[in-house]
Formats: sequence, C-alpha cells, structure tokens
Amino acid sequence: MLLRPEQREKLDPADDRDFYSLPRFVTHVDDHFIDQLTQLYRDRLQPQTRILDLMSSWVSHLPEEIEFAHVEGHGMNAAELAKNPRLDHYQVQNLNADPKLPYPDADFDAVLNCVSVQYLQYPEAVFSEVARVLKPGGVAIVSFSNRMFYQKAIAAWRDGGETSRVALVKRYFQAVPEFGPPEIIANAGGVPNIFQLLGFGGADPFYAVLAQRQ
Ligand SMILES: C[S@@+](CC[C@H](N)C(=O)[O-])C[C@H]1O[C@@H](n2cnc3c(N)ncnc32)[C@H](O)[C@@H]1O
Repeated sequence: MLLRPEQREKLDPADDRDFYSLPRFVTHVDDHFIDQLTQLYRDRLQPQTRILDLMSSWVSHLPEEIEFAHVEGHGMNAAELAKNPRLDHYQVQNLNADPKLPYPDADFDAVLNCVSVQYLQYPEAVFSEVARVLKPGGVAIVSFSNRMFYQKAIAAWRDGGETSRVALVKRYFQAVPEFGPPEIIANAGGVPNIFQLLGFGGADPFYAVLAQRQ
C-alpha cells in the first residue's frame, strides 16, 4: 500500500467543501516560485493543446503569450474558478470524496497541479485518473513549495521534510504503471541564515515532479 490509513489523515477531518466554501483571491506562493513555474510551463507545454489545471483556483500561472486549444479547470470553489481568465470551462469536485475525473480517456495533452498535491488523501487513485485522461505522450506536472494549509495537508506530507515530499510525489507517479520515469526539478532556494538574521527572507523553494503518460 502506498500510504497507511493514518498517513492519509488531516488535522481538520471536516468535509473539504466547508474549508473551500469561501473564495480566496490570493497567491499561495511568491513571485520567484511563480516565475519558475510559468517558465517550466513555457518550456514543456505546446500551443494549441488541451490542458487540465487540476486543483485549480483563480490563477493558473500559464504563460500569457501561449494560446491553448482548451484549458479546463477543476477545483473546489466555483467563484475562484469563474474568475480565472485562462479557463475555458471548469468543474467543481471534491477529489477526496470522489477521485474519478469527469473527462473521457486520453482527453488532455497536459495535466497541471500547482501547490495542492498535499491535500490528496487518495493520491494513487487521482494519479491513476490523471494517467487515464492524458493522451499517450502527454505530461503531468506537479509543483509545490513548503507552504500549505497545515490542517488540510495529509499526515504523510506534514510529517516529512522537503526532500521526503519530493520522494513522496515521485512514488505517487511510480504507483501508476502508465507513467514513465518521473523527472525532478528542485530549487530549494532560500538564503544563508546570516541574511535571514539581518531580515532578508528567502524565496519560496520550488519543486516540480513531472512524468509522461506512456
Ligand atoms: C493552495 S490552493 C492552490 C490553487 C491553485 N492551484 C494555485 O496555484 O493557486 C489549493 C487548491 O486545491 C484544491 N483542493 C483542495 N482540496 C481539494 C479536494 N479535496 N478536491 C479537489 N480540489 C481540492 C482547491 O480548489 C484549492 O484551490
């Protein structure tokens, strides 16, 4: 088993719909993180392809200059998704209650998941669905930093450090036979302690784990 039952637990066990019922029009990571993510999307996504932004909100961090054939948003708050200028269409669904994605097989060229994977209680089911909706040769890009809604992250995420979280997402991909070997991009960033003592904060660390649907 990928995760033991206790590793899937959240400190706040209430229905996720309650937590996400009010929109949050904020960015969850700093500009340094977002710049790296947008550049990664610029490098890896092709114009005029079909994109699924999974666990999406009012921002998708896609390069402004690239036009896609369709960008689908999937998340928990309709007001956030309605405000996202990159989405052509969106769906609201709690993946911890129902991990089955409402899309046909081989529907997308890329599936994106930004700063959200830590909230999935059944990641193997969701990653298997991601593989199903990806076209052969399509790519899944899962990015994350060290910030989170602590009470809504699963124990396996909370209990680990940054290195073990990268390893965890790598294992999520490896649990699905349709995915090829995961690629890891890690930029722990930050600044030496002496600068932090002088009041200069570090940038948000940037991690991405990518895999191709074979
Ligand atoms: C920190 S926000 C990140 C939003 C967006 N991806 C971004 O880059 O700003 C976490 C997102 O995960 C989604 N999410 C959290 N729990 C979820 C669940 N159980 N099912 C589906 N989506 C969920 C919510 O829609 C929420 O917007």
